Amino acid sequence: MARSRQPLIAGNWKMNGLRADALTLAKGVADGVRQAAWQDRAVLVCPPATLLAAVAESVKSSGVLVGGQNCHAKASGAHTGDVSAEMLRDCGASHVIVGHSERRADYGETDAIVRAKAEAAWRAGLVPIVCIGETLAEREAGKTLAVLEAQLRGSVPSGATAATLVVAYEPVWAIGTGKTPTTPEVAAAHAHIRGVLGSLTADAQSVRLLYGGSVNGRNAAELLAAGDVDGGLVGGASLKPDEFLAIAKSA
Ligand code: 13P
Repeated sequence: MARSRQPLIAGNWKMNGLRADALTLAKGVADGVRQAAWQDRAVLVCPPATLLAAVAESVKSSGVLVGGQNCHAKASGAHTGDVSAEMLRDCGASHVIVGHSERRADYGETDAIVRAKAEAAWRAGLVPIVCIGETLAEREAGKTLAVLEAQLRGSVPSGATAATLVVAYEPVWAIGTGKTPTTPEVAAAHAHIRGVLGSLTADAQSVRLLYGGSVNGRNAAELLAAGDVDGGLVGGASLKPDEFLAIAKSA
């Protein structure tokens, strides 16, 4: 049976890889995706900005999509060291991650900043992957669903649709720790996110919701089969082509 939402498996390479490693990794992913010839799922890799153009060139015609990990809200100007959504697009990107918890923590990115970055992505013709997720303290205080709702309401620009928005639920405490929520907890969080999106988008039922946080080749099949989960945002395991492809296969 055809699924109503095409799964998206995205690899966030974070600040990893020099040119030679990145091209080897990109080739491994592209070869695997070419061979699998999936019609029913999409695969995206998000390399560091310095490697985006080279990776985009290397995966060309494989079907692998390429995205940025962050962008500035402005198109250009006096913002030393920053990269605009237009620049990512110019390098071959189709998507950009915005509001990753590492950026929220390291650079104090607020929901308002994340929202401006999502709007910048639209301006440049990119699809933003808006990241939300609770910290361990928030979870232990029983605030998970309230935090997710507040982040969504603050970070998702008005006018978002399934064609222009992907949301990634990444519990902060699950990132890079080997810990994950249980499958029912993931399903409950995603159901809540979809419910909130009902008041923010016209077609919430079609918006893709990714789970991220310690997804690997062993737990992907179960996590990605949870209700309202439409794929994954994978960190560490996306640096190994075989494991990343196995995750994509299990979606
Ligand atoms: P890990 O898969 O390494 O836990 O990272 C998840 C993540 O932050 C993806 O954006």
